[in-house]
Amino acid sequence: MDSMIGIIGGSGLYQIDGLEGASWVKVSTPWGKPSDEVLVGRLGGVAMAFLPRHGRGHVHAPSSVNHRANIDALKRLGCTDVVALSAVGSLREDYVPGDFVVVDQYIDRTFAREKSFFGSGCVAHVGFSHPTCARLSGHVATAARAAGARVHEGATYVAMEGPQFSTLAESRLYRQWGADLIGMTGMPEAKLAREAELCYACLAMVTDFDCWHPSHGAVDVAQVLATMGRNAGLARDLVTRLPALLGPTRALCPQGCDRALDHAIMTAPAM
Ligand code: ADE
Repeated sequence: MDSMIGIIGGSGLYQIDGLEGASWVKVSTPWGKPSDEVLVGRLGGVAMAFLPRHGRGHVHAPSSVNHRANIDALKRLGCTDVVALSAVGSLREDYVPGDFVVVDQYIDRTFAREKSFFGSGCVAHVGFSHPTCARLSGHVATAARAAGARVHEGATYVAMEGPQFSTLAESRLYRQWGADLIGMTGMPEAKLAREAELCYACLAMVTDFDCWHPSHGAVDVAQVLATMGRNAGLARDLVTRLPALLGPTRALCPQGCDRALDHAIMTAPAM
């Protein structure tokens, strides 16, 4: 199968450098409007699609991002793999602002978002014990290291509703749960990507220590934006390295992300 790499850009990533034949495409979905038009083109002989999660100009708050429309739009365009970039706070001493972290687990604390493509008419329960694609995540880690980033692999991301940052008690609680990172956008994006049978990886960019760290003050947007600004070049660089690593064709996903619905649908076929 021909591969197409979808990039969901978080805060600070609003374009892909060097995309050939690039054009912004409007995609209609049954789930409403995606966050923005999708920038499609080719890089190194591989099709790419870029969608800014918050829209150009950062106009959608975390709770109003239409994740179903975003994932559906990338699927409709033919994406096989989706790499999501997300700004996060660190819940660990050794993950410092400026580090990049490949996420492999989530704790979903969001509550005001549509989380499934299934529910009325067709019911499905996809497996989600391993929520990200290990093959794609490995390539993302390689690309980020090659771009010069300090990269950690394997981390648990707490997805919170926001838009306010956490209280100190919440931040301490998440650390006790064993979570490593906190952000507002990782869910339900990852769940929907699995339902859409897409290989999905999340590269989190640490922008702050949230509020638990005794030597750092409470997190604020200025701090988040300053770190994002310093990381933006690295993020753009690593994205341009992905096509060479993934190649123009995709073998079946060893983990079965691309066949997630094979044994997931409960509803009987229509007579
Ligand atoms: N995004 C970036 N930093 C964050 C934090 N500390 N909490 C939630 N989302 C974030």
